[in-house]
Amino acid sequence: MLYYLVIIFLYISLQINIMAEEIDFEREYSPSRWSIRFSTPEEVIKYHIEHVTSASLAATNNIPHELDIEYGPTLGQKLDILGTDLPKDAPIFVYIHGGFWQMLSRNISRYAAEPLHHAGIKTIVVGYDLCPTVGLQQIVSEVENAAKYVFQYAENMRSRGVYFAGHSAGAHLVAKILSNASLLANTPGSNRLKGAFLVSGVYSLQELLYTTVNDALNLTDELANTLSPYFDNFAHLKDKEIRINVIAGQHDTSRFKKQSKEFYELLHNKYSLPNVNLDIKDNYDHFDIVECFSNNNNYLKMLLIQDIEKYL
Ligand SMILES: *[C@@H]1O[C@H](CO)[C@@H](O)[C@H](O)[C@H]1NC(C)=O
Ligand SMILES: *[C@@H]1O[C@H](CO)[C@@H](O)[C@H](O)[C@H]1NC(C)=O
Ligand SMILES: *[C@@H]1O[C@H](CO)[C@@H](O)[C@H](O)[C@H]1NC(C)=O
Repeated sequence: MLYYLVIIFLYISLQINIMAEEIDFEREYSPSRWSIRFSTPEEVIKYHIEHVTSASLAATNNIPHELDIEYGPTLGQKLDILGTDLPKDAPIFVYIHGGFWQMLSRNISRYAAEPLHHAGIKTIVVGYDLCPTVGLQQIVSEVENAAKYVFQYAENMRSRGVYFAGHSAGAHLVAKILSNASLLANTPGSNRLKGAFLVSGVYSLQELLYTTVNDALNLTDELANTLSPYFDNFAHLKDKEIRINVIAGQHDTSRFKKQSKEFYELLHNKYSLPNVNLDIKDNYDHFDIVECFSNNNNYLKMLLIQDIEKYL
């Protein structure tokens, strides 16, 4: 009897060890290693930067705009408005870029603007300071300032509707805006918020503690919890008419896909929000899932047009 118990015990501990070793968190949070479009992760990143840089430059050259608008006191707290020639009440698309809160910038994140401009939609690109110059807590509070600025602007313009989108770390930041009940309740114009697009986001930060991503973030266990939208309350969204799209790519890492599924389930099952949609898109990876925003007929533009035609 004892012999069998010992064997079973050894077997279970072995399984637990295997499970723990099987998850390579560094790989799970290195989305460039999962793309099948290029032969090395370096090429994936290189192409991404080149693509978003040239598409952002073209958008800036081709669309009337106002750049470098300060929405807060620090260097990073600036935003760009593209499409200043459109009717005052035009719908507004707000974009928060990714880069694990430590890379990329506003000036290479204007690539969605041109196709949207053709559809009569203004684009606002939000910049923010990066880690480790500032902490992640400060970045969250910066994008809250940006949201206040945008809502007030939308109010002044009588905009027909505001949509927020974020990619990767940017999706995390949009989720933090959505979870802030007092921000949404007390900011003039926030009732103009109609939808959000959370693209290949990370909503629970715990596992980042085991990766080199955290070298620049310096998150503690406690901070990782506080700053995870997954542990926030979204009940206040229930009586708002906000459509939320949680999106990831087939060739995102399995952890990124899991994060999207679990965040969708949180909003849909736990908080019973009526208009939440999950879409794991075939054939897309973590990067071309937003690179395509510069193509004239991309899925995001189609979703926006559909929503605008149906509800605004
Ligand atoms: C974009 O901004 C970054 C940081 O602010 C800067 O280093 C870079 O030169 C800028 N790129 C362009 C194309 O303006
Ligand atoms: C929510 O937003 C308000 C207003 O910007 C801010 O004062 C508060 O700290 C935010 N709360 C959280 C939990 O981020
Ligand atoms: C990282 O965080 C720890 C604990 O919060 C702090 O003691 C340390 O100074 C921080 N390191 C850096 C480089 O900011």
